Amino acid sequence: MNSAKNAPNPAKLTPNLGLKHRNSFGLDSTAELAYEITSADQLPALMKELVDKKLGWRVLGGGSNVILPESLPGATLLINILGQELIKSDDSNTWLSVGAGVNWHEFVSWTLEKNLPGLENLALIPGTVGAAPIQNIGAYGVEVGEYIDSIEAFDCAAHGFVTLPQEACQFAYRDSYFKQNPNRFIVTKVVFKIPKFWQARLQYVDLAKQFSEPNSSPSAKQIFAAVCAIRSKKLPDPKVIGNAGSFFQNPIVSAEQCEQLIKQFPDLVSYTDSNGKRKLAAGWLIDQCGFKGKRVGPVGVYEKQALVLVNHGDGTSSDILNLAKNIQDEVLDKFGVQLEIEPNIL
Ligand code: EPU
Repeated sequence: MNSAKNAPNPAKLTPNLGLKHRNSFGLDSTAELAYEITSADQLPALMKELVDKKLGWRVLGGGSNVILPESLPGATLLINILGQELIKSDDSNTWLSVGAGVNWHEFVSWTLEKNLPGLENLALIPGTVGAAPIQNIGAYGVEVGEYIDSIEAFDCAAHGFVTLPQEACQFAYRDSYFKQNPNRFIVTKVVFKIPKFWQARLQYVDLAKQFSEPNSSPSAKQIFAAVCAIRSKKLPDPKVIGNAGSFFQNPIVSAEQCEQLIKQFPDLVSYTDSNGKRKLAAGWLIDQCGFKGKRVGPVGVYEKQALVLVNHGDGTSSDILNLAKNIQDEVLDKFGVQLEIEPNIL
């Protein structure tokens, strides 16, 4: 009796929910069964029901890193678990617990209001806190994984909640244990560990240029504002032009392959990776193939950043994937490098 009394409200179900305004590419897509998850404790019953009914499922966070088909059969879980709080603090660090459905940029702004600098380089990245660790979002020399203490998730393989410490998350460039194990974990909460010792991270050229005055020592809030300004200038606002940020990962090649390419293409843009490999600027490779600003029907390549594919209106996932294939083929042909698609193709 008691357990029934304490049972959580079941997840709200909306059949045939249109997702055009819930994905940053602005693709027309209908979720057959959309479940809104507002609390982690709704998951055990819902996931059991989906298993019993043999229904497929996927998670949709902020919809800013996905390519949606016209219809999504089975269940689509809309994660709207909110809440952010400071849970503890010692001489060196502050720990924050944040619901997976919290908007990423609003969370970053909140940390700065609370005088907890560290995440400012990651300002204005679209999407939710729960999605951030999946692809280990990164920008301007910082990756979110560095600031994550642990992650709480529902493990569908074990049918129970797990807490994965940072070491278990296997964070790497746009990669994590969650991305390697698709459809196993549903992230419900992220615990961040923000060091009290703060130092500006300005090694990324675009950002360094903003503070090039001698003795300039910008505050975290100034860096936050600068990152917002750079992103707004370079990247299209999804509210205006549909897009999912970088469409391809920057490819990682061996130092030898990179040296060979530089001999042939002296202007090639590359960075040394942490393990001695080289990361190539995919935007540069695509730009060199003449795609920047190119339009193919309703979709195209953004005019200011060749790494971003855009939907000018009523493009479909096939339009986008056809253009992507064309770009991949030309880059492979010219540079011998295979580009990998970054957003999740559902
Ligand atoms: N470049 C070109 N032509 C272009 C685009 C870029 O020549 O059309 C050259 C630029 O001149 C620059 C280099 O390529 O020298 C790198 O470009 P940029 O600084 O714009 O960064 P990126 O490597 O294209 C990555 C991330 C972005 C992140 C920025 C800043 C990936 C896949 N993308 O882009 O992340 O904001 O660095 O750190 O790693 C995202 O993941 O959605 C995203 C926007």
